[in-house]
Amino acid sequence: MGSLREAVASVDVTDPVAHGRLLFGKRGCAGCHALAAADATATLGPNLDQVAARLAASDIRRSILEPGSQVAKCGDQPCRAQMPSYTGVLDETQVEALTAFLQQQR
Ligand code: HEC
Repeated sequence: MGSLREAVASVDVTDPVAHGRLLFGKRGCAGCHALAAADATATLGPNLDQVAARLAASDIRRSILEPGSQVAKCGDQPCRAQMPSYTGVLDETQVEALTAFLQQQR
């Protein structure tokens, strides 16, 4: 996966939005969620294209650390997967970066 390594090397981790976009692919989010800004097309979880129009930053953060604390739907149907908690899996910088990236999606 040379291309991923290059992407990791070239991402500016001082830019939270760019860092968050990278993490979205690298940490499995794209395996369940569709999000055009991250070239993600999975349908196990809700589509996140407009997530910032529905959720405040604090709710996005809570969705990552305590999934299931809010009932989200996947289109018209109940979701076909359960989101794992990322508490203790992602560090604070990573949670902040993902939140900053998702906050742009409206
Ligand atoms: C195994 C599948 C799976 C993975 C992996 C996953 N999610 Fe989820 N996600 C879901 C499901 C299902 C829901 C809806 C139920 C819920 O809110 O817990 C959800 C809900 C969300 C929500 C709330 C959406 C809304 O409209 O309320 C956000 C934000 C989110 N996920 C972000 C992420 C991020 C960021 C990652 C990676 C760090 C991630 N997810 C990884 C399945 C997943």
